[in-house]
Amino acid sequence: MIEIKGNKVVLIGTGAVGASYAFSMLNQGVCDELVLIDLNEQKSMGDVMDLNHGVLYAPTTTKVSFGQYIDCADAALVVICAGANQKPGETRLELVKKNMAVFKSIVGQVMNSGFDGIFLIATNPVDILTYATWKFSGLPKERVIGSGTILDTARFRYLLGEQFGVAPTSVHASIIGEHGDTEVAVWSSANISGIPLKDYVARDHTENPEDKMKEIAEQVRDAAYEIIEAKGSTYYGIAMGLTRISRAILQNQDVVLTVSALLEGEFGHEDVYIGVPAVINRQGIREVVEIPLSEKEKELFDISVNTLKKVQEPFWK
Ligand code: 2OP
Repeated sequence: MIEIKGNKVVLIGTGAVGASYAFSMLNQGVCDELVLIDLNEQKSMGDVMDLNHGVLYAPTTTKVSFGQYIDCADAALVVICAGANQKPGETRLELVKKNMAVFKSIVGQVMNSGFDGIFLIATNPVDILTYATWKFSGLPKERVIGSGTILDTARFRYLLGEQFGVAPTSVHASIIGEHGDTEVAVWSSANISGIPLKDYVARDHTENPEDKMKEIAEQVRDAAYEIIEAKGSTYYGIAMGLTRISRAILQNQDVVLTVSALLEGEFGHEDVYIGVPAVINRQGIREVVEIPLSEKEKELFDISVNTLKKVQEPFWK
């Protein structure tokens, strides 16, 4: 396994998600160098100036610059946020045709630079485009990572935290599966500081706990639709999730995060990138963590896998 050197990050796509990611990376001082690439060069150059004007107040002196694909040659991490995003009412899966073509071109150009680092993909449908990046790039599976359900898990832990009056960091629970309509809330192992959620609910005297939990899972699943309806797109949450994954990689953290990873027999599936808990470090995805699932959760996860496979298979025939 090769060791990825340095901590230069190249961001491709400086729309709302990309620009928010750059801002978040700068504020958390995660990398030494951040290069921005976008078709709209003028917008990127503006972002570079604007971000550099804030460097004085950041925890470290990140070097932010405008770049070209050739800059990917010595990058440790290339993050792709480019592509079309959902219109109100549109599903993530409906973006597949448009964004698959965009990705073929982007990944080709990155690889032509001699890039030999880790890809982190955020564009939707993220699981399918992460699989496409793995195929287009020819890189080992552990070096192609999708944001997967990192944001859904954050939404889930936030809402449970709100419900029970504890910080999301004290809530241990995950959303797995497609980053989209078939995602699965893993209730069976959800806990608050080690207390199984079902016991915590009883202790907390939550009224109609089953209805409440169902409502929370639905809120998580539909959050993006609600935000898109309200302000056109979602970007801060995903940007912070991407920053968390970037930090786990660049700081070799061996932390478990729910990301889109290639399954090779885990959870009984293969040849699909999908949101699952995985150990993330400097090598990328060290391993997929096969958390126990109830029968119902496994059934729902299978449906999610099959949904993704059905959409992506025609592209690889
Ligand atoms: C989100 O879940 C739209 O995938 C984006 O916020």
